Amino acid sequence: MRFNLIIVSILLLVFCGVAVAQDKTEAKAEKVSHEYVGAKNCKPCHKEVHASWLETTHAKAFDVLSDEEKKKEECVVCHTTGTTAKGVLLEGVQCEACHGAGKDYKSPKIMNKKKWKADPETHMKMALDAGLIIPGEADCIKCHTKEGNPNFKPFDFAKRKGDSHVFPSTAPADEKKGK
Ligand code: HEC
Ligand code: HEC
Ligand code: HEC
Ligand code: HEC
Repeated sequence: MRFNLIIVSILLLVFCGVAVAQDKTEAKAEKVSHEYVGAKNCKPCHKEVHASWLETTHAKAFDVLSDEEKKKEECVVCHTTGTTAKGVLLEGVQCEACHGAGKDYKSPKIMNKKKWKADPETHMKMALDAGLIIPGEADCIKCHTKEGNPNFKPFDFAKRKGDSHVFPSTAPADEKKGK
């Protein structure tokens, strides 16, 4: 009898443990969902990057689809960025397709020139916690993959990374001045 009681108590404890663990992962999943805002909301503070991104095929990736294809989820998925809270489809491969949905990290509390400069480490951490992604190979491969991509070309991240847009922080001094 007593033995059975112990078993039941142990099972109850294990069950509660699992329930608590599930609750925690659910809370985590909620925390990582952020809203898309579109490239025009990054432009005012990242003019140079925005201008050079506009020149890439990414910015026009929706325009290469025919009117028919623009309605097909199986094409739209890699030729658009996401949908804003208001339901606006963000056409093409915009900033947030690589950097993550930006509503929270673009906040002037985080992406503030003065504050960031005074303490870049803390502000980068705040931005990452708010959903910013510093893109690596995996963030490109989700679209630059053979699966479902009728025009696939082999993708070499190291060679292609630099084609994303200009990187003002690493530009040679004469380029920074506009040559
Ligand atoms: C898995 C992501 C993905 C899907 C799904 C996808 N594409 Fe693409 N598409 C790409 C990528 C990436 C490129 C650029 C080529 C490359 O590097 O693979 C591209 C390029 C293109 C181009 C330009 C081709 C060129 O040579 O300039 C067209 C047109 C196109 N896709 C049409 C479509 C159509 C139509 C569909 C739906 C049937 C589709 N894509 C589905 C990722 C995708
Ligand atoms: C195709 C993917 C892609 C898109 C689209 C993209 N970026 Fe980036 N971005 C990158 C990569 C890759 C880096 C370099 C990451 C690293 O430091 O390793 C980067 C770096 C940056 C940096 C740091 C630049 C520096 O000087 O170091 C800023 C700021 C930035 N992106 C803003 C933007 C904005 C704003 C847009 C839209 C106008 C945008 N990005 C669109 C891939 C992208
Ligand atoms: C209120 C102005 C502002 C807005 C809006 C803004 N940013 Fe920023 N962002 C900054 C500042 C300031 C920094 C600090 C580093 C710098 O000066 O580039 C920064 C840093 C970054 C970095 C990291 C750069 C690094 O050091 O590696 C990325 C990536 C980035 N922003 C992308 C974006 C994207 C994408 C959007 C739009 C969703 C956006 N930002 C909106 C001002 C802004
Ligand atoms: C949301 C999907 C998506 C993501 C994420 C993405 N790409 Fe692309 N990329 C495309 C599509 C679609 C095209 C084709 C655009 C077109 O031809 O109109 C393309 C084209 C390119 C091209 C031009 C290829 C050519 O021959 O013209 C380069 C370079 C490229 N991507 C690099 C990258 C890098 C580097 C990353 C990650 C930092 C990345 N892409 C992330 C969808 C994506």
